[in-house]
Amino acid sequence: MPRKIIIDTDPGVDDTMAIFFALCSPELEVIGLTTIFGNVHTELATRNALRLLEIAGRTDIPVAHGADNALTGPFEGPVPFVHGSDGQGDIFLPDPAGAPADISAAQFIVEQLRAHPGEITLVPVGPLTNIALALRLEPRITEWVDQVVLMGGNALAPGNASPAGEANIRNDPEAADLVFGADWSVTMVGLDVTHKVHMKPEDIAEYETHGNAMSDHIIRILPHYRNYFESSYPAQGIFVHDSSAIAYLLDPSLFETKRWAIRVGTQGLGRGKTWPAFGKHILPAWQNRPLVNVCVGVDGPRLVALEAERLRKA
Ligand code: BDR
Ligand code: CA
Repeated sequence: MPRKIIIDTDPGVDDTMAIFFALCSPELEVIGLTTIFGNVHTELATRNALRLLEIAGRTDIPVAHGADNALTGPFEGPVPFVHGSDGQGDIFLPDPAGAPADISAAQFIVEQLRAHPGEITLVPVGPLTNIALALRLEPRITEWVDQVVLMGGNALAPGNASPAGEANIRNDPEAADLVFGADWSVTMVGLDVTHKVHMKPEDIAEYETHGNAMSDHIIRILPHYRNYFESSYPAQGIFVHDSSAIAYLLDPSLFETKRWAIRVGTQGLGRGKTWPAFGKHILPAWQNRPLVNVCVGVDGPRLVALEAERLRKA
């Protein structure tokens, strides 16, 4: 039986790769995409999610539109210099033929978890607002979910949206603090590992040989994203963020993990930083918090090869 997942996403170039990676993996059954602001505004994230499912030939999968703003304030704005103004590397796809479901992302998450208790893993690869809203709507989802495996955060590594914070968490730190504090199993696949997963120019070039719609789309959208990385980091190619969460679902042995309570900085320069509590003497702010499974090590080349293998067979 494949494992049911809901991907909560802000597509986004690397979100696109993660969605396609999941769709090409027989161990996983994507039962819905829920959308969120981050790389783009939520309205565009929803249109991109619909477009991606059309490219993949999977219009049977529902898309539910999520929150337009963070829990406590307005969305600070998209990042066209990373993902393009269309979130798809400035290739400007035609409008999707389909439409989103007529319930919100949070309602969709609650309804699906209620209908399939113990069977669904939530895979957020954007800001955690929809997940926090679902928790508020129905706190029993912590009993109904299988696990939460998210891309976001930085326990030991520096941030990317600021020196302190990773982009997904920094876009809604209050939501993230609720998600890390809820009584469910959370795995954090953050910059501690994703900045060690390096897709090199030769790995990217291999996608050109696949000859299928998903790999062809990846090849079209990657140049803009790759330019951003190559102008920001001393490496050629890209780091693999959102697909690393999918890889964790497929093969957790790729990762080394630690179990730490996590609090999220919500103030000042430290806004968006995920702070782990170490050692025996835990300060009150971290006490009585569940332990989060934090990825701290990864076999990057094996992960990159796994994703390419799945897309090659798409
Ligand atoms: C995360 O932020 C977004 O730009 C990416 O899609 C990824 O989810 C990386 O920090
Ligand atoms: Ca993302």
